[in-house]
Amino acid sequence: MKTQVAIIGAGPSGLLLGQLLHNAGIDTVILERQSPDYVLGRIRAGVLEQGMVDLLREAGVSERMDREGLVHDGFELAFEGRQERIDLKTLSGGKTVMIYGQTEVTRDLMEARKASGALSVYEASNVQLHELKGEKPYVTFEKNGETVRLDCDHIAGCDGYHGISRQSIPADALKTFERVYPFGWLGVLADTPPVNEELIYANHERGFALCSMRSKTRTRYYVQVSADEKVEDWSDERFWDELKQRLPAETAARLVTGPSIEKSIAPLRSFVVEPMQYGHLFLVGDAAHIVPPTGAKGLNLAASDVCTLYRILTKVYHDARTDLLQRYSEVCLRRVWKAERFSWWMTSLLHRFPDTDDFGHRIQQTELDYFLGSEAGRKTIAENYVGLPYEPIE
Ligand code: APR
Ligand code: PHB
Repeated sequence: MKTQVAIIGAGPSGLLLGQLLHNAGIDTVILERQSPDYVLGRIRAGVLEQGMVDLLREAGVSERMDREGLVHDGFELAFEGRQERIDLKTLSGGKTVMIYGQTEVTRDLMEARKASGALSVYEASNVQLHELKGEKPYVTFEKNGETVRLDCDHIAGCDGYHGISRQSIPADALKTFERVYPFGWLGVLADTPPVNEELIYANHERGFALCSMRSKTRTRYYVQVSADEKVEDWSDERFWDELKQRLPAETAARLVTGPSIEKSIAPLRSFVVEPMQYGHLFLVGDAAHIVPPTGAKGLNLAASDVCTLYRILTKVYHDARTDLLQRYSEVCLRRVWKAERFSWWMTSLLHRFPDTDDFGHRIQQTELDYFLGSEAGRKTIAENYVGLPYEPIE
């Protein structure tokens, strides 16, 4: 088998890159370890930056998002009995975010891929990357008990944090940056009406809480829990009780509870590898970096990597600009680190850390009070939350 770009992983990164390249007349094959249903079963984030919304429109996969997604002009921060709104639209010069679940983005992209006729191989096992630094890279994988060889020009490693792509790079060619936080997020999905029209991020002495949503009838709520907490110990009742305690009283009084459809605990981590390229292999999205979910940046960073690689590869195939390939990593990393910084900062600002003393608490309260009380502070939060601009490739 032969293609121009071999894409490893059919999460949002791989599927979106595949769609953009297909539209540009560039041939791709996507290799995914899991089945389509498994991929769609994962519950992930749901806030899309303006840049990602625009990219989905450019890819021609925005019809349902534009119909069903909820445009949010702001969000709320609750702390110390106060509830303050960040007016994203006014503070960022007109930008907004779109509430539309990653699962729905993935579903739309899967359907577009199917309609395009481009090849995706699901349940491809033992994917291996070869000759990454050589003249002719290729990928091998197993399907229905047979080993298949896929020759290609370039490989896009879109296979997430646990994927094979990053692991195929010699350890001494990569530098890793990591911070693991001493807590996780317990999330619940429920078919209940949202407690508020906009998202509420709450800093409470019992720990962080977030009120989010997927639609006007489906909610996603989170509470900070300690790193060793077990999901089995959290009945729906215990979850709703804990959430209510962490919200401002009148918000808690409005909260509509119901049976959970999904409940899981996610650890919080910041992680970056440098560089994001090794020979013919380009790391994209979660394969190269992880952010804690506090700023809703994970999926959006994947989209900006995809955009950068797509713009470079179209110049390579249409204008023979192979010189641009070596720019991929530095262009991506500048934006990646800014989102890493914002996610780390939002996490530090809003969570309870087990080793924070009284002085640390006052500093945290004062930082919130200072940023919210200053126009410059609110603008800083807003411009990061709606997403910093995509970096040009030259
Ligand atoms: N071979 C083939 N496919 C693989 C392999 C492998 N060895 N390892 C992992 N995969 C697949 C996974 O099954 C998954 O479908 O790669 C895909 C990676 O998808 P994601 O983890 O969703 O990563 P990405 O597409 O970069 O999405 C960005 O943003 O909000 C965050 O974590 C959230 O998933 C989200 C991410
Ligand atoms: C979500 O809806 O799952 C969500 C929203 C905002 C975040 C993180 C997660 O910051």
